[in-house]
Amino acid sequence: MIEIKNLSYMQNGKYILKNVNIAIKQNCVTGILGPNGSGKTTLLKHIIKELPSKNNIFIDGENIEKIPRKNFAKKISFVEQSFTGIEEITIEDIVKMGRYPYKKIFFDYSRKDKLIIDEALYQFQLKDLKDKRAGKVSGGELKRAFIAKAFAQQSEIMLLDEPINHLDIKHQLDLMKLLKSMENKTIIFSIHNIDLALKFCDNIILMKNGEITAFGKTQKILIPEKIKEIFEVDTTIKNIENENIIIYNSK
Ligand SMILES: Nc1ncnc2c1ncn2[C@@H]1O[C@H](COP(=O)(O)OP(=O)(O)O)[C@@H](O)[C@H]1O
Ligand SMILES: [Mg+2]
Repeated sequence: MIEIKNLSYMQNGKYILKNVNIAIKQNCVTGILGPNGSGKTTLLKHIIKELPSKNNIFIDGENIEKIPRKNFAKKISFVEQSFTGIEEITIEDIVKMGRYPYKKIFFDYSRKDKLIIDEALYQFQLKDLKDKRAGKVSGGELKRAFIAKAFAQQSEIMLLDEPINHLDIKHQLDLMKLLKSMENKTIIFSIHNIDLALKFCDNIILMKNGEITAFGKTQKILIPEKIKEIFEVDTTIKNIENENIIIYNSK
């Protein structure tokens, strides 16, 4: 379980995160929703220790600041929103980076590492692309490669920053289904698509101006009043064939 207690973060005299308090359950898919600039990426970066916290974030009761780097990488993986400086690396090498926390210094990757890398390439439909350089594949394919890297890392917790941005609808659905189907994983991602959040998230965190305005089960949080409060749009949610569907009222 991830617990965040009284986390605030300031930049240039302005609160980017303000008194964040949440406990995220294990083995669930949690979506973070909020307008641009509401603090989603900043929150994720605190959880992966890219931004500093002090006695504010705990994983299974342990202060993340106290967990050594390689052990931390075995617990948590992160897929960034965009990637730079990796144009010359092959897709297979990207996936291989996921095994780095398990690699012994001066030793090559083990047989087990290689099997896991192959499995990740297969699961994410990257086998045919494995020898291509990152600079020569599409944005969506590159995203899949980084998600495959996180998968190969075999961490119980996976954090993803807007994982379906820039993917076509088929790959959006494929990725959501795959994340949802993973067993024994705690998955947290930021997402702009309310429709897919309704379909695939067990829990929702709503953010506005660096604050968490609501947190809980998707059916309780993604309701028209709360959506209006956060996004300033009028919606209707209809249950059709046991699925909640959002309708945007444009009139
Ligand atoms: N390094 C930084 N310096 C100053 N302001 C920043 C920095 N990083 C982010 N911000 C500001 O913090 C706020 C939250 O940003 P971010 O977490 O990226 O939001 P989101 O991911 O929800 O779009 C924004 O107003 C952004 O301009
Ligand atoms: Mg962001």
